[in-house]
Amino acid sequence: MKILSIESSCDETAAAVIENGRKIISSVVATQVEEHKLYGGVVPEIASRRHCEAINGVIRETLEQAELDFSGIDAIAVTYAPGLIGALLVGVNFAKGLSMSTGLPLIPVHHLRSHIASNYLAHQDLKPPFLCLVVSGGHSHIVEVSDYTRMKVIGKTRDDAAGEAFDKAARTMGMPYPGGIHLDKAAQNGDDSAFKLPRPKVDGCPYDFSFSGLKTAVINQIHNASQKGVELPVNDLSASFRKAVVDSLMDNFIRAAEDFGHKKLVLAGGVSANSLLRKRVEEECSKRGWKYYYPPLNLCGDNGAMVGSQAYYEYLAGNIASTDLNARATMSIEL
Ligand code: KG4
Ligand code: ZN
Repeated sequence: MKILSIESSCDETAAAVIENGRKIISSVVATQVEEHKLYGGVVPEIASRRHCEAINGVIRETLEQAELDFSGIDAIAVTYAPGLIGALLVGVNFAKGLSMSTGLPLIPVHHLRSHIASNYLAHQDLKPPFLCLVVSGGHSHIVEVSDYTRMKVIGKTRDDAAGEAFDKAARTMGMPYPGGIHLDKAAQNGDDSAFKLPRPKVDGCPYDFSFSGLKTAVINQIHNASQKGVELPVNDLSASFRKAVVDSLMDNFIRAAEDFGHKKLVLAGGVSANSLLRKRVEEECSKRGWKYYYPPLNLCGDNGAMVGSQAYYEYLAGNIASTDLNARATMSIEL
């Protein structure tokens, strides 16, 4: 079964053709990041306009690369939640139009579910059940994936998402948007014990996260340095910050795995590109004899391929949308 999938939840207009949920036939991603960089973050209105401009060409190119027309496609899939509402609406309405004009079924896909599915494209042996840490610019969840379409949130952030925390800290240190990747690079050359930063815990909820205090801690360190007239050692602060975030994520993730009896751990979402997070999951799982998976770097960020992968399993579970499908800015991954 070949699915044409569309993603427009944030600042990437993307599409793909995916076969049976596991094989990428073609995949095209048009990013708007250079434009949003000027404003230090995603400007929702600009994002919607750029999606409108890009979507037709992206889908045309995706089909061309696959050497297919609609007669070779079996279903249309689209990200419908969660995300920027104006951005999501562009993909949803385009997909509805394609579905109506071709008569192909329309499959609605939850954005975080698709991030998890990016692993199915890279790891043919990966099957639920497993425990997944989904860490993106908007969400930080520990999710028990009992089947392809059955999920339970075990822990989540009480304030900022991990990616948001990375981006805010990076911006405070003068790095361009999106700062996560720049902070990760700066941290490679830094001393992670140079700065003392908190490891916030949420009372009574051992699997929940809190990252907003870390940003304040970074701002305080920057002020202290400037008051003393010393130049801020950006590499050291980046390394200390990255370690604080990754320690928090991994402590709760491993604890949840132990408490719920999972021996297969998976990373997903933009922050799963973080080099320390990848190294730590490898180390922690290897020493316990557990299996671990994370997506290749080109599938960590938003893309259409992951949407087509999850869509296959949604289709098998009977999740088909009617023509009144609407976009939603927020929606639980549990549905
Ligand atoms: O999943 P994603 O592409 O978009 C959302 O659904 O939000 O995640 C984007 C987030 C951004 O906050 C970005 O800075 C972060 O992922 N990110 C990273 C790295 N690469 C991307 N954070 C830390 N280290 C990285 N190497
Ligand atoms: Zn995403």
